[in-house]
Amino acid sequence: MKNNSSYYTSKKIYNTEISKLKLNYPVFVTNLSKLQNEGDYVLFNFYGEEYIAAKSKNKISIFQNRCLHRSFPLKEKINGNEKIICPYHGWFYNYEGKLIGIPQKSCFKVLPKKKHLNQLIPEVCGKFLFASFKKGNLKKSLGKLFKVVEKISNNINKLEYSDAIEYNANWKLCVENSLDEYHIVKVHPTNAGYYGYMKNYKYYEEGKNLILFSSESSKDSIDYKEFCGNILKDKFDYSGYKIFNLFPSTSLTMYFGLLYFTNFHIVSKEKTINNIEVFSNKSHKVSDIYVKKFVDNFFTRSVFEDKEIIERYQKKLEKNSPYKFQEYFSVFEKRIKTFRKFLA
Ligand code: FES
Ligand SMILES: [Fe+2]
Repeated sequence: MKNNSSYYTSKKIYNTEISKLKLNYPVFVTNLSKLQNEGDYVLFNFYGEEYIAAKSKNKISIFQNRCLHRSFPLKEKINGNEKIICPYHGWFYNYEGKLIGIPQKSCFKVLPKKKHLNQLIPEVCGKFLFASFKKGNLKKSLGKLFKVVEKISNNINKLEYSDAIEYNANWKLCVENSLDEYHIVKVHPTNAGYYGYMKNYKYYEEGKNLILFSSESSKDSIDYKEFCGNILKDKFDYSGYKIFNLFPSTSLTMYFGLLYFTNFHIVSKEKTINNIEVFSNKSHKVSDIYVKKFVDNFFTRSVFEDKEIIERYQKKLEKNSPYKFQEYFSVFEKRIKTFRKFLA
């Protein structure tokens, strides 16, 4: 199979991808615990454009992070609780993204007719907030997984850890790496690859969402159907490794009795932000020390190991004028081909 470096570097390919994806596939924003009080907000990227998810008294709204006056970014910090006042000249918005105040209004001959910042649709699955271009996109893209993810999310005890990590790399390199279980032994020898290559594992598909169940112990069930059946009856199985790659760039993983997101937000063709969130679960309580060990020794370590390898790859792909190269896929990398097919 041949690939071309331009797949990860071309502006044209990037633009075509995001203009198609944004119409149909929602982006995971955060869990609702970050948007509980009036004025709480979260800043995130939706296919190359920054948006703010904010909580007003009655609802959550999602609007563009660009002032109606002259497009200055309204927010800089990734989350907080503050009024929405543009730092440049002080135009003032409510928490639903509506312009409500203009300093020295009489000095304008013309003002925007439209009073609202561009909006996206907030869509919720259990305790998870997604941003959609069109209402209904979330149910459509998750399909049968919607109910499963809803159950998983309603079983959350609390958010234990979150961070946003910037990668100087194309989003597809990030996603493809997350669909690659062949690199784990070499790149993550002390954490994800500690036990060597997977032995008991099974791949499943739900629409364009790719699912992997695996376990070190052959006693654990890696049967996805059985898992879904149980979860709908509120029976949670936290054994082994259960990864749900939600097309195109989010993955939700159950491992070590915890639940975590790696969530690649597309910023530009060579920049991606990985939003990670780690949760403990109601039906599987763990201690703070346990969580800290998992985050420090396993999770963030493996994230930074991946970041390093992906950024080196991207640099090389960009260095030369576009070039073709041959690729050979092991069974542990075959989902990369599926992902590319779904994206095409
Ligand atoms: S750009 Fe926001 S008030 Fe001027
Ligand atoms: Fe990795």
